[in-house]
Amino acid sequence: CLTPALLPMYNVESSIVVIIDIFRATSSICYGIENGAEAIIPVSQVEECAAYRDKGLNYLLAAERNGEVVIGFDFGNSPFAYTAEKVKDKTVVLTTTNGTHALHLSLKAKKIVVGSFLNLSALSEWLKVQNDDILLVCAGWKNKFNLEDTVFAGAVISKIKSSKHKLDDSAIAAEDLYELAKPDLAAYLSKTSHSERLKKLGIEKDIAFCLNVDITTSIPVLKGDRLVKMTC
Ligand code: MLT
Repeated sequence: CLTPALLPMYNVESSIVVIIDIFRATSSICYGIENGAEAIIPVSQVEECAAYRDKGLNYLLAAERNGEVVIGFDFGNSPFAYTAEKVKDKTVVLTTTNGTHALHLSLKAKKIVVGSFLNLSALSEWLKVQNDDILLVCAGWKNKFNLEDTVFAGAVISKIKSSKHKLDDSAIAAEDLYELAKPDLAAYLSKTSHSERLKKLGIEKDIAFCLNVDITTSIPVLKGDRLVKMTC
């Protein structure tokens, strides 16, 4: 099976789960891991993130809600906060509105990896040679469908589908949407509700950055409670 889980409500236990939150959690995670962050610890609640303050000075605390940095934290979810200068050799504790939530709902998965347009080809090449079912978990927005995560799921499907995969209707729909979007991803995805939200906050540059295809090759993978760079 090769399924984009349009909502994180599927049985994850026998699957490799790819967490997808294009604007912006999984794009920022991919960028941070590529830029040498030792680990990114995804937590669900702002309070859990804040609790790391008492665990030592080695943690950078990142919290985002509704697109904005939560007051009192080092930064939020902008990919520009995950440059080598800021995160190399550091451990970031991160909570976001949807991305880290979707990851926590998927904790029973056989394996959890993180995808974004930034690592599309590297991720797809790795997925191609896996024999387990693959669940593309689209974080969406507050448990609702969103277009950018689904279009990315379609991009993965179009790259990796083969005779060993059974595509259900959601996989076919996601791939069709990707084909529609592919000629001009930025223009197609400019109509999404989260683009509108981010534009209102004046952070169009984050949207453009998250649509850079294949600028990284790292695949973040969950080991224990931390996302680290996959070593094959
Ligand atoms: C999320 O996890 O909901 C997001 O990535 C929201 C954002 O910061 O744009």
